Amino acid sequence: CLQIATNVTEQKHHVSRAKRGQILGHLRGFRGCTVWFTGFSGAGKTSIAFELEAYLISHGIPAYALDGDNLRTGLNKDLGFSQRDREENIRRVAEVAKLFADAGQICVCSFISPNAADRRIARMIHKENDLKFFEVFIDTPLEICEQRDTKGLYHKARQGIIKGFTGIDQPYEMPESPELVVKTVNCTVEESTMRVVEMLQDNGVIP
Ligand code: PPS
Ligand code: MG
Repeated sequence: CLQIATNVTEQKHHVSRAKRGQILGHLRGFRGCTVWFTGFSGAGKTSIAFELEAYLISHGIPAYALDGDNLRTGLNKDLGFSQRDREENIRRVAEVAKLFADAGQICVCSFISPNAADRRIARMIHKENDLKFFEVFIDTPLEICEQRDTKGLYHKARQGIIKGFTGIDQPYEMPESPELVVKTVNCTVEESTMRVVEMLQDNGVIP
């Protein structure tokens, strides 16, 4: 059975964030934070997240993208799509993102993260560690995601082949106060990505 560890104390690193920042990238300086994309399946989270990662890297800014589909084949391969498993998925990812951010990376996370409470926990994990957390709602209406059906998953969900699909027979709670809302209808991936870049610039994360 699962037992919670006791007698565990925080061990302090010898390296400060400022020191870490000095050796990271040719722009130097600590800019570790997390950009958290949420939205329906097929909204464009992965496309925008990977475009953002590529943009940052090409500008000499350390970044790393964590994506739902990818994490679910590794770290989170023991998890499914029940509410409980989604909660644990998001909790683990948030903890990993915190480590990436602490290491000085801009950690770009793309997960449906349908539950507001789970996104709140992800935010808290960062706040407790003095790390900036930007929730970005990829605001593509469900009807459009279903029309796109890039992976054919909506079709399968409608046929009942996939059960518990977000927006079909499981809920998605819209973010109430995200740092940014990005619309994707009538926008290119590059245009949507630039909205996120501007947000990072406005917040002094990147020059
Ligand atoms: S969650 O809700 O945040 O834990 O989901 P996430 O880790 O982002 O994984 C979502 C991707 O898994 C695929 N997939 C499903 N999504 C939603 N509901 C169900 N039942 C499901 N089954 C498989 C799908 O490829 C999702 O990727 P995206 O990029 O969102 O389309
Ligand atoms: Mg995706």
